[in-house]
Amino acid sequence: MSGVDLDSLVNVADFERVAAERLGAGPLGYYAGGAGDERTLRENVAAFERYRLWPRVLVDVSAVTTRTTVLGREIEMPVIVAPVAFQKVAHPDGEAGMARAAAAAGTIMCLSSIATTGPADVAAAAPGAARWFQLYCFRDRGVTRALLDEAVAHGFEAIALTVDAPRAGRRERDFRTGFRVDATAPAVAAAVGSDAVLTPAEIFGLVDPALDWEDLERLASECELPVLVKGLVRGDDAERAVEHGAAGVVVSNHGGRQLDSAPATIDALSEVVEAVGDRVDVLMDGGVRRGTDVVTALALGAKAVLVGRPALWGLAVAGEAGAARVLELLREEVELALVLCGAASPAALTTDLVRPGPALGGS
Ligand code: FNR
Ligand code: LAC
Repeated sequence: MSGVDLDSLVNVADFERVAAERLGAGPLGYYAGGAGDERTLRENVAAFERYRLWPRVLVDVSAVTTRTTVLGREIEMPVIVAPVAFQKVAHPDGEAGMARAAAAAGTIMCLSSIATTGPADVAAAAPGAARWFQLYCFRDRGVTRALLDEAVAHGFEAIALTVDAPRAGRRERDFRTGFRVDATAPAVAAAVGSDAVLTPAEIFGLVDPALDWEDLERLASECELPVLVKGLVRGDDAERAVEHGAAGVVVSNHGGRQLDSAPATIDALSEVVEAVGDRVDVLMDGGVRRGTDVVTALALGAKAVLVGRPALWGLAVAGEAGAARVLELLREEVELALVLCGAASPAALTTDLVRPGPALGGS
């Protein structure tokens, strides 16, 4: 892709705009798209507009920090790169470039099971990077086992078990474009036994829809790494996740790509925090586009957030450098939001800083 002056892109929306100009219709539809009528996709972002931050004043914020700790790992900002599949379709730097960008930002990159770069290669590309591995349990348990073994052997620090995708959501943009994944994802090739060019729905068909709580319990007991459950929105499911061994949960609706009409994750967060926030780290993702969104989520009890599309737009525009720039912008925005809220660190954020906005009858 021809060079772009990254300094001229000043927020996530700028990167999304340029990425949309440069990606082909198929990849753009896949990355940007949601399920069905895309209600949840829109709600994830729109819901943040229904919250207001009520800043404290006359707090010494001369020594503000964006640092926090998640699952015992200190990170430079409470923003983690979410697992996004097939990143080499967006840019040749792919997941290795994303890992280096996350490392440069001092944060964690969560690698997808259906990445176009395997765990060993990501580890080699960014040896110093803090990394998590997102697990899809394949119907072929041998593929699942091999993925886990490779992640554990190559310094991944946690497993994020994705539980909201027993079957692909209805991705109508992909139906219209006929998008197929014309890049090799090692786990897919292993499961299919060839480099067949498949649709996302066909790839989802490789995932085991029979996964249940006993599978979580078995994974959590057998795996030496902590296991997070990614893709729940209910407090009772979060309780069960912790009872079955989860070391953390990610409040997520897969970026609006699975069950359309699922709630916006920022609206689901408090119920999950109430249920398990006193025992495990609660993370959230979905619709985070601004530092103020991050601060809102943390004030409502999230330990950190994950971003999917924002980092992906950075990668699509300028590879590793683009992803690094997006993460840098988000960190700057988080720091500014902390300062202007009168909070010297993420730990200083409390629920009373957030109130409903006008749409909910708030003031
Ligand atoms: C995803 N997501 C996802 N999640 C997961 O557990 N495994 C995966 O392989 C993928 N792949 C994927 C591809 C694309 C193109 C998108 C947009 C998303 C979901 C992702 O981890 C995260 O939950 C959402 O992207 C968060 O929403 P935002 O930040 O994209 O609004
Ligand atoms: C998706 C899968 C790959 O959302 O998680 O496309």
